[in-house]
Amino acid sequence: MITTLIRDFSKQVGQTVMVQGWVYNIRSSGKITFLQIRDGSGFTQAIVNQASVDPTTWQTATQLTIESSLTLAGTVSQHPKKQEYELQVTAITPIQLATAEFPIGKKEHGPDFLLEKRHLWLRSQSQWAVLRLRHFVKTGFQDYFNNQGYIELDTPTFTPTSCEGTSDLFEVEYFDRKAYLTQNGQLYLEAMCMAFGKVYDLCPNFRAEKSKTRKHLTEFWSLNPEIAFIDHEASLKIQEAAIKHMLEYVLQHARAELALLQRDLTDLQDTMAKPIVHYQYAEAIVELQKRGSSIQFGEDLGADDEVLLTADSTVPVIVKNWPRSIKPFYMKGYPYINKTADHDLVLNADVLAPRGFGEIIGGSQREDDYETLLAAMQAARLPLKDFDWYLELRKFGSVPHCGFGIGIERMTRWVAGVHHIRETIPFPRMINRITP
Ligand code: 4AD
Ligand code: MG
Repeated sequence: MITTLIRDFSKQVGQTVMVQGWVYNIRSSGKITFLQIRDGSGFTQAIVNQASVDPTTWQTATQLTIESSLTLAGTVSQHPKKQEYELQVTAITPIQLATAEFPIGKKEHGPDFLLEKRHLWLRSQSQWAVLRLRHFVKTGFQDYFNNQGYIELDTPTFTPTSCEGTSDLFEVEYFDRKAYLTQNGQLYLEAMCMAFGKVYDLCPNFRAEKSKTRKHLTEFWSLNPEIAFIDHEASLKIQEAAIKHMLEYVLQHARAELALLQRDLTDLQDTMAKPIVHYQYAEAIVELQKRGSSIQFGEDLGADDEVLLTADSTVPVIVKNWPRSIKPFYMKGYPYINKTADHDLVLNADVLAPRGFGEIIGGSQREDDYETLLAAMQAARLPLKDFDWYLELRKFGSVPHCGFGIGIERMTRWVAGVHHIRETIPFPRMINRITP
């Protein structure tokens, strides 16, 4: 008898198999016990028929409790009407009978309760589907960049400086000095792309975000490509191609998970087939004002603005070339002929997901000229001695280069179509949550 996974049942119809798993749910109709079983790879119904099993097996079946672990033997059959597979049970060997009533039941639980029980909530079908999607989002992007010749090289978690501004830094004691948890590995990626050409990291980033929203984690994962010898528009083309490839990969590997979550595929399919929409930042402001926003040129897009700009779009929307005044020091200036103080733009872009899911990628062309970068750093009052090494990169064969950060949880939230970012990471860290 072969030991198998529920995922492989479709290839084993008629065969006698063994499965190891947990009891997800139990339903009984007198002489038949219907066990819903999960084994990590999937969910299935196991049918125990009193008439066709020995008395001990029947007795075991009636004593099982939710989340008990067990080994089942039986024959795989196809559901008479659906594309679903079941197990006609012949033997049951309990591994451990759950010792208490499983706290997550059919009734509605509040989010705080579910987060307190995150270690168990992970077992529920919706969470299983979202987190499997996260895996395929991540590996879908990695697949794209690996196939394009990028090298994955990860960046440090302890850093001596800030990368994205000092307002949301986590400070830690590092022996006899202060250090910070990385906000993003970009500065190190810039050094690495001058050694390897095309690199990416896939790391946790830390932001002491005071905001309590559906989009903010204090610890999130980002995948950051950094590429030498390309300009901003070329970088945007790479971002678009990478998103399209990731979606193809997800649809190839995780259709069942999307179906479980009842994800409408229109936007994902449109994004694969159609070009992404581009707005200059200035155009986006005019468009937003037309749609009723009070935003002014020079201001950051608020969450409401992101919704207003993308609510009726089925494909992502790029907003590019923002005012320097609201962006970090490292972005290269827009090549203006008549630059003025209030029209000093940078070569950056945010990619906003359709239907108001918000920013999923942020990136820019980096300042590659030593003097210009030095001036920008002085203007930002950065402690220059900590950034010596970063400036030095511009002394030895500096070249145009670009990079961008893909937020893994934000991307998963959009792809899965889930409301809150807390469901897109196994153990979310937020302003008011660090347990379990
Ligand atoms: O836009 P951000 O801040 O960009 C950077 O850090 C650049 N240095 C990246 C680069 O150029 N390599 O962050 C990148 C992405 C955002 O678009 C968003 O998807 C995600 O990271 N992100 C967050 N996700 C969850 N919680 C938060 N608090 C996030 N902050 C940013
Ligand atoms: Mg951003």
